[in-house]
Amino acid sequence: MSIQRNVDLSCFNSFNISCSSSYYSEIYNVAGLENALDFARQRKLECIILGAGSNILFTCDYQGLVLHIKCLGIDIESADGSDKVLVKAAAGENWHQLVTYCLAGGIHGLENLALIPGTVGAAPIQNIGAYGVELEQFLHQVTVYDMQRQQVLTMNQDACEFAYRDSVFKREQRNQLVILDVTLCLSRSTETNTSYQALQQFLEQTMAVELAKVTPRQVFDAVCLIRRSKLPDPKQLGNAGSFFKNPIISRQRCQLLRSQFPNLPVYPTATTDEVKIPAGWLLEQAGWKGRKIGNVGVHQEQSLVLVNYGQGTGLELLELARAMQESVSALYGIDLEAEVRVI
Ligand code: EPU
Repeated sequence: MSIQRNVDLSCFNSFNISCSSSYYSEIYNVAGLENALDFARQRKLECIILGAGSNILFTCDYQGLVLHIKCLGIDIESADGSDKVLVKAAAGENWHQLVTYCLAGGIHGLENLALIPGTVGAAPIQNIGAYGVELEQFLHQVTVYDMQRQQVLTMNQDACEFAYRDSVFKREQRNQLVILDVTLCLSRSTETNTSYQALQQFLEQTMAVELAKVTPRQVFDAVCLIRRSKLPDPKQLGNAGSFFKNPIISRQRCQLLRSQFPNLPVYPTATTDEVKIPAGWLLEQAGWKGRKIGNVGVHQEQSLVLVNYGQGTGLELLELARAMQESVSALYGIDLEAEVRVI
């Protein structure tokens, strides 16, 4: 085990925020994790688990131990005689590389989740989702290390308690469980999900594809093209994707809002008495799209995305996020919840 002191984290967070961690360790396996946790226990250090750092905002130097998950490996096992395939990937694998690896091997389902930044281990934490698909639809099992019980456990889909951008890993078990690997149930069938309207339009109008004949590869290509046109590449412009969740409000409240704002877009949720409102729309109406304040700002194409123009600090971004929350609250009475983890 190697524990490093005073490590610069600017390359390990997609906002490219300059900050450091008092202690830092790369974790390649359970033995390494146990040793690092022993080290932290002896010195009474707090720990945080870091994947690709694509959903985290550091607002100060971290005084504890950063456990940087680097476990690698992908195993493909056929589930049964059907076209279902179980794919087990270690937590440190890059998510998009897993998506491309599966697609190249004729294993389908993840196409809509192409280009989501981050690691496989981070995917269940916020139940990553895009273009009509959420991770929970494919999740078979997660292997975790329980820091309190000091043992490896497996959790099935139910135990993860998934919801929109939410799971047990973000709530009750926050900072308790370290995800070691994720097993997904995918398919060799070429069935696709083109339910998301913007995806459907892009396939039909821009790619001139007939929806009934669309292939997983075409969905993958469309999702990559849409994302690249709307979302900044963190390597070029520091960001963490959507900074806020899309708020979920009651249908009743939505009706009231709509009487005041007739153009308010509304999306269905799993329950009939609640609807989802695109936070990007609320923020754009509030005048945030493309605004630059000092070294930070709001992306030109997507008001949900906060960006660091290079020299921005975590506190500047946090201040901007708070100002955005306040203006949406004042205009619509809606509280935007951060999706990004703020340290
Ligand atoms: N919109 C605006 N102005 C904006 C942005 C959005 O008016 O600046 C409105 C438009 O009406 C648009 C609608 O919002 O039709 C939806 O926009 P978009 O398709 O870009 O999706 P989103 O709801 O803003 C969510 C996810 C994204 C995911 C996309 C596509 C959340 C918090 N974000 O964004 O996820 O890629 O859907 O499925 O749910 C991420 O989590 O980091 C992320 C990028």
